[in-house]
Amino acid sequence: MGRLTGKTAVVTGASSGMGKEIVTLYVKEGANVVAVARRKERLEELAESLKGEEGKVAVFPGDISSKDVNEAMIDFAVEQFGQLDILVNNAGVMDDMAAVGDFSDDKLMNVFNVNVYGPFYATRKAVNTFKAQGTPGSIVSIASEGAYKTCAGVVYCASKSAVVALSRNTAYMYKAEGIRSNCIIAGGFKTEIANSMGMPNMEAYGKLQPVLATSPEPGEPIEIARAALFLASDEATYISGAELAVDGGWCAS
Ligand SMILES: NC(=O)c1ccc[n+]([C@@H]2O[C@H](COP(=O)([O-])OP(=O)(O)OC[C@H]3O[C@@H](n4cnc5c(N)ncnc54)[C@H](OP(=O)(O)O)[C@@H]3O)[C@@H](O)[C@H]2O)c1
Repeated sequence: MGRLTGKTAVVTGASSGMGKEIVTLYVKEGANVVAVARRKERLEELAESLKGEEGKVAVFPGDISSKDVNEAMIDFAVEQFGQLDILVNNAGVMDDMAAVGDFSDDKLMNVFNVNVYGPFYATRKAVNTFKAQGTPGSIVSIASEGAYKTCAGVVYCASKSAVVALSRNTAYMYKAEGIRSNCIIAGGFKTEIANSMGMPNMEAYGKLQPVLATSPEPGEPIEIARAALFLASDEATYISGAELAVDGGWCAS
């Protein structure tokens, strides 16, 4: 029996990096998982690779900057697997490292749509689903050292500060319902996220170098998956409102 046997999870950003590892680990630990991202083929490959594991994967292709997609993915989880127990707000994109004098309107809109509005819509739907079911639920959101350190542009850093606030406020407001909400403060990881950056603002990128130089070697995304497993599992029933740094010790510098 796995650590998530009998649970249903929705994981956003499941087509690569941390999300793919989270889905893989959750399914191996017995969860049924709805895997969400835009690239359908990637999700289908992932589902195929996990056939025969204890849990099942149902793919849900969609753009999580849409409110409708966030609501539909949770309805889909309930239809497919009977209920919702876990939401992982993982999907995210980078900005171009720009300072406030230089951010573009497009970056502001895109980064906030994916990193902030998506998790807000998904968390609202998840909380109301848990309440309607009368079950406790667990929400894990992937934030970043950028919420605290100037290690990216102002748009990305502000988006991750918003994720931390969303996570903590949710933990406080729904304590009586047994709903837990935690976030992971991720350091640098070997994933595809740099592809979402576009052409970096070189002046700002240069200014960030002293901060980036203090980061340890980038980690493997499985490290995030292990933390997301713990926080979602019944081993963490007394943990809510926490910010768990998974960053090779960067937070201590
Ligand atoms: N890697 C790092 O160093 C690092 C550090 C701190 C925090 N983080 C955070 O970790 C999380 C995961 O990122 P990662 O590093 O694993 O990057 P990644 O490999 O680029 O994965 C990002 C995932 O988000 C999905 N995504 C992006 N835009 C989307 C949209 N509009 N709708 C649906 N899905 C979307 C992508 O799928 P599709 O393209 O198929 O839609 C992909 O599955 C993000 O929240 C990121 O901010 C990463």
